[in-house]
Amino acid sequence: MNRKIVFFDTTLRDGEQSPGVSLNVQEKVAIAKQLEKLNVDYIEAGFPIASKGDFEGVKAIAEAIKNVGVCGLARANEKDIDCCYEAIKAAPKRRIHTFIATSPIHMQHKLKMTEAEVLEQVTKAVSHAKSLVEDVEFSAEDAFRSELPFLIEVFKRAIAAGATTLNIPDTVGYATPEEFGRFIKAIHDAVGDQAILSVHCHNDLGLAVANSLQAIQNGATQIECTINGIGERAGNASLEEIAMALETRKSVFKVTHDLQIKEIYKSSRLVSDLSGMTVQPNKAIVGKNAFLHESGIHQDGVLKERETYEIMKPEDIGIHGNNIFLGKHSGRHAFRDYIEKWGYHLPEEQFQNAFQEFKHLCDTKKDILDDDIMEIVIGQLTGGQTKFNFNKLQLVTGDQLTSMATVTISRGEAVEERAGIGHGPVDAIITAINSFLDYNPKLVDYQIQSITKGRDAQGLVHVKVSNEGKIYSGRGLSINILESSAKAYIDAINKIERYQEIGGESNGDDNHRENISCACQESSC
Ligand code: KIV
Ligand code: ZN
Repeated sequence: MNRKIVFFDTTLRDGEQSPGVSLNVQEKVAIAKQLEKLNVDYIEAGFPIASKGDFEGVKAIAEAIKNVGVCGLARANEKDIDCCYEAIKAAPKRRIHTFIATSPIHMQHKLKMTEAEVLEQVTKAVSHAKSLVEDVEFSAEDAFRSELPFLIEVFKRAIAAGATTLNIPDTVGYATPEEFGRFIKAIHDAVGDQAILSVHCHNDLGLAVANSLQAIQNGATQIECTINGIGERAGNASLEEIAMALETRKSVFKVTHDLQIKEIYKSSRLVSDLSGMTVQPNKAIVGKNAFLHESGIHQDGVLKERETYEIMKPEDIGIHGNNIFLGKHSGRHAFRDYIEKWGYHLPEEQFQNAFQEFKHLCDTKKDILDDDIMEIVIGQLTGGQTKFNFNKLQLVTGDQLTSMATVTISRGEAVEERAGIGHGPVDAIITAINSFLDYNPKLVDYQIQSITKGRDAQGLVHVKVSNEGKIYSGRGLSINILESSAKAYIDAINKIERYQEIGGESNGDDNHRENISCACQESSC
């Protein structure tokens, strides 16, 4: 029988460590629920000891996810592991993932520990994790640059202490496929089937997917990966690329998986929208151009026989083309039916908001396409009560780059209008919005993308705003890109407000990961 590959998704842990990405608890839960629909085997939900926000995020996911495994990361010490257990304990299927570095360079310079000390720590940490949960994963950080005999000894210790999965990270993305394959085979020969072998490949040389696939062919059964390949530095192996390679080249890999590949496109869109990490157009599988044919010869070939130039069908990953099913005469019922067919079930308040947005869009845009509706729904997935709500924007753009913006905002029952002057309309909008605040946040990143083609396309703006050293992201959607900009900025401000409201202690911002960057094994330092 064909071996089943275990998909261990680390979008919410390693992916969330991507530079500039900071998701709040609601956003993490929305992504986790989508990963549950995608039916990954495990969701690595975060690194609970890293910050209060990380802890709250993992706990909320453990409480929300019922059908797939939930895992938390912990360094190889008791305090991290206990904290991780507290965060994941509500999950019906839970796993602790503990790690320590095993390469000479990490042990000598970062850990300042000898091989003997590392071995002892592995036994202690894995045994402690095993006393709390049955399912324990042990990772040897920087495994690929470790001495193979020592690494095998470390893994044998981890097995003896109760580890059920052994993870072999190429932490710095240094391996090439052929040597990584040999490396995995050597470990597989040494430990046999006493534990599941897993790989975790980084993409510094653009080889993360190739290395992961080579690992599968040499005995690895678990793959650690992220949606859209996001992650530290150049990112991790991309889930959708590995999944579609296994799917499209079944006869080469001869393995199975439990993923619902029809959920791939929705997962990619959600992660890109909420993280603000836009997908490059030529990205394999989920890029905007992945299924487009520009050259006449290719178009002609595809029209005659699709398989001349297409090895996968867009429908297989959940792209339905840009169909038009709804319009200004569609009512609530049709709208609900339509989004439920896509697998979105919004709570009543968010559904009504989405429907209002849809109606408003019908007044300004001729053809409402699938992608338009998907963006409206994504905007509501993490919705809820917010302090500031955008009402209206008026702009006067004069010469010499001077603009004046008047922004109308409602706060509960109160509706208030403030004006601001700036160098260009975006600057003026931000000045106007900042005048509602008694602090002075700064715009640190601004990105705009069009949702569909055509002059009446909606513009989706992503911003990153910094306040007191923390980064908050915001998202805004409108046919008017300046309105999108105002909405995105207000979205980020609402996250700052939420953070302040709860005393800056809990969710709302998870990017003060003071402990993650700390190299030593003392979680108290
Ligand atoms: O890249 C890495 O080594 C990691 C480990 C913590 C698994 O992310
Ligand atoms: Zn990693």
